[in-house]
Amino acid sequence: MSPTPSNATSPSAAVTQKFTRAPKAELHVHIEGTLEPELIFALAQRNGVTLPYASVEALRDAYAFTDLQSFLDIYYAGASVLQTAEDFHDVTAAYVERARADGVVHAEIFFDPQTHTVRGISLDTMLAGMERALAQAEQRDGFSSRLILSFLRHLSEDDALETYQAALPLFDRYPHRLTGVGLDSSELGHPPSKFARVFALARERGLKLVAHAGEEGPPAYIHEALDILQVHRIDHGVRSTEDPALITRLARDQIALTVCPLSNTKLKVFGDMREHTLKQMLDAGVAVTVNSDDPAYFGGYVNANYAAVAQALNLNDDELYRIIRNGFEASFIDETQRATLIARLDAHWQVA
Ligand code: ADE
Ligand code: ZN
Repeated sequence: MSPTPSNATSPSAAVTQKFTRAPKAELHVHIEGTLEPELIFALAQRNGVTLPYASVEALRDAYAFTDLQSFLDIYYAGASVLQTAEDFHDVTAAYVERARADGVVHAEIFFDPQTHTVRGISLDTMLAGMERALAQAEQRDGFSSRLILSFLRHLSEDDALETYQAALPLFDRYPHRLTGVGLDSSELGHPPSKFARVFALARERGLKLVAHAGEEGPPAYIHEALDILQVHRIDHGVRSTEDPALITRLARDQIALTVCPLSNTKLKVFGDMREHTLKQMLDAGVAVTVNSDDPAYFGGYVNANYAAVAQALNLNDDELYRIIRNGFEASFIDETQRATLIARLDAHWQVA
């Protein structure tokens, strides 16, 4: 019998044998980015929305992005089919089912309320639908989750403040689920400092804080997110390698980065996955995690993201373990749950 190829020569073997079934956390996924074209069409029909695409295939064909903005234009259009609590339930339930197939046992899910309130959809409607799906997944399958309310940075801080004030009763009603705020949408020209006041309020309230930074924007935006917004994690952060002092800081303070490899290549942050900075950051001791961002648009859920980056950067078994473990270490869960989930990972890893 020929010997099993080593992981160094065959990372894809490691991918299939070990981590596809490993329990994982997903810390960077936008619920609106999990709307598969088939579901967009089904919800459009249910809600009487006319889409500017003739078919599922025509919509999928439009997913050829040149940068973040070219994606966001289509992503916001797709999100317009979400109208009722049932719609928010259905997209959330579909995501959970798909994530579970990839071994995800804990997810921290972004939603963009301003994308929906502008169309007259209330925060109550969004939360009611998502909570029903997540509570059911928790009871039925032990799937644990949090929701992170994300402000759209291309809008004003006053708009974010208004959204935050409107969400206060929801933070009270869903304290177990709605536990943080984030910052997303068009990064360039909208630095984290623009949202200093709303993040200060969220911080005073004890909410968890995250921000997209260093996706298309410069390392200075990551410094701002840390210094001014005082975030607990950075979403993306892949441009941090341009600033050695920042890498040292991220490693020293163990600030986790929620990296999304397929998103980065689809949005042309990197021309090729082999140029991705994930391994450089990992080698420098930065707590990188792997996530799917907007899986319905970028061609893969969390395992596909691991597989793509493991293959391109030749990640070995230990590196994959560290990335998965980083996901649990960086999750917004209590220490008992963290220890339980890491023990589950270790038990799987030793026998797999
Ligand atoms: N909203 C959804 N996906 C995003 C991304 N990759 N960057 C910024 N905002 C987003
Ligand atoms: Zn994102």
